[in-house]
Amino acid sequence: MARSSLRIIREEHQTLGAMLRALGKMIDRGPGDEPERYFDVMRATLFFIDEFPERLHHPKETQLLFPALARLAPQIQDTLIRLDKDHAGSERSIRELQHLLLGWELVGDSRRQAFEKAARYYLDLYLGHMHLEDTEVLPLAEKVLGEADWKVLDAAFATNCDPLNGKYPRDPIYDRLFTRVVMSGASS
Ligand SMILES: [Fe+2]
Ligand SMILES: [Fe+2]
Repeated sequence: MARSSLRIIREEHQTLGAMLRALGKMIDRGPGDEPERYFDVMRATLFFIDEFPERLHHPKETQLLFPALARLAPQIQDTLIRLDKDHAGSERSIRELQHLLLGWELVGDSRRQAFEKAARYYLDLYLGHMHLEDTEVLPLAEKVLGEADWKVLDAAFATNCDPLNGKYPRDPIYDRLFTRVVMSGASS
């Protein structure tokens, strides 16, 4: 049976992946004749990414999963260094994106390209990042981590979601935000 922390990490990747893909579709579509709605949803997307994965998902990988794995499977060290570097730069990148978006909204179209370029770079980087975790890091963790490591990881990740229904994230306000963002991407 899959460990609960692994299941939560994979579910969080799916959620963040859906958000990033919705962001990509919204960028492709552009504001059209509904700029107010567009900026509203874009702001909500960046807020969600900053609020949830940045604070709860990445730090737990960096602090708990990666060190355990580096200890037991040194062959993955280089990959973990790269992933850690992504985590370290991600919060700053998402804040920069929020600023660039505000620049476009308030200053006008002269700022549009800078936002779009940075946003596409971020989403490509993060989709690749999660793919690497899903295909290399998690399968290896499943093989080499011991019972004591899983106990710590399962307990840490359990607080990211409601253990009763496994819902991500726990606060219903995030559910509503997530639905709104993903529906906006889907309707484009
Ligand atoms: Fe990560
Ligand atoms: Fe991750």
